[in-house]
Amino acid sequence: MNKTGKIIRLALIGGGHRGIHMINCMTGGDPARAELIAVAEPREDRREDCRKPFTIPPERYYHDHKDLLSHLDELKLDAVLIATDVATHHDIVVACIDAGLSIFLEKPITRTVDEAANLVKITEKAGIPLQVGFSLRYSPFFVKLREIVNSGTLGTIISLDWTEAVSLRHWTECYCRNPSYNNRATVGSWILEKSSHDMDQLNWILDKPCLWVSCFSPRSFFVPATAPDVPKKCTDNCPRLDDCPFAYVPEATGMSDWLTPDQLDVCVYHCESDLPDRQVAIFEYEGGVTATFNLMPLVFEDNRWMTIYGTQATLRGSAEDRRISVQDVTTGVETIYHTPFEADEHGGADVPTAKAFLDFLIDPTSVP
Ligand SMILES: NC(=O)c1ccc[n+]([C@@H]2O[C@H](COP(=O)([O-])OP(=O)(O)OC[C@H]3O[C@@H](n4cnc5c(N)ncnc54)[C@H](O)[C@@H]3O)[C@@H](O)[C@H]2O)c1
Repeated sequence: MNKTGKIIRLALIGGGHRGIHMINCMTGGDPARAELIAVAEPREDRREDCRKPFTIPPERYYHDHKDLLSHLDELKLDAVLIATDVATHHDIVVACIDAGLSIFLEKPITRTVDEAANLVKITEKAGIPLQVGFSLRYSPFFVKLREIVNSGTLGTIISLDWTEAVSLRHWTECYCRNPSYNNRATVGSWILEKSSHDMDQLNWILDKPCLWVSCFSPRSFFVPATAPDVPKKCTDNCPRLDDCPFAYVPEATGMSDWLTPDQLDVCVYHCESDLPDRQVAIFEYEGGVTATFNLMPLVFEDNRWMTIYGTQATLRGSAEDRRISVQDVTTGVETIYHTPFEADEHGGADVPTAKAFLDFLIDPTSVP
């Protein structure tokens, strides 16, 4: 409910996996503080996906954001959740700001710095609340990590190493085979799409401006030259099918659920992706703090691990294990922290992310 005691009236723009999940996080509270009023989604198959979890009437489905915004008089919306692909974010946000709606915008903000700067400028000018879906800021693990850094236990931070490791199935199903994510025209760049969370975390934790960045991002292994003898589809009598770790998984599970049968068996060496197949970056922050970042596919489980080097202690964290160790550099004494397990996407971050947005709409003074 907002300050007037009314349930917040929300619309979803972009009925893909993420939009459905985040709307459920926003409307699922008990008692519910928000209600889904309408959905804008051009694809019929995606509208069908929305009809399963949502109970809104058929006339409340609109073709796209423009169609939805042309019905504002009858919809009486308070806010929108924008979960479309990043290439569309700038124009949709501009249209929603013109309409005076509060906005939850999924990360990344936009594909280019100029577009992002423009959105910041016009959002501030309009005085419209806009929250970006940097959900890791609400994950118990990253909240604890930042709390330790801010407590001063590590002393002065000199340097930091950070890795985002993407599991084999996440890499093959999402970034090789899924056209929503496997090309720069749609996602901007792989590091922007996959690791804008991590770039946000580096800035959030170090709390200083970054002065210099250098980055290397080849695609050299998942290319036709690595496997010139195989067909473009795993199911087209591929001679390596039985021992290829990247072969398709016939029964759709997890990431594969979002692939059509036609996409499921595309060969990872011959897919149309133009993304790099690994990425490393080095940074210098104000005051000489250095950082390295490694975006790496091909581990068993998705994970993020990091080492933060301070003058008094070294912090080592593993997000998937929800474990942080802080070791004194002179005595070797180690303190271990375990953060709680949350059976949700992003380590329990999505529900508190949604809650923060609703809290702000209900009472802007309640959010620091
Ligand atoms: N915060 C997180 O951790 C997290 C996790 C996953 C995805 N995301 C982000 O969420 C966004 C959506 O991800 P997804 O996996 O659901 O993508 P998706 O491509 O599967 O779904 C996006 C949907 O938006 C629809 N769409 C495009 N233009 C539209 C318009 N003008 N009006 C209405 N609908 C439109 C498309 O038809 C598509 O169904 C992306 O920006 C992605 O980076 C964030």
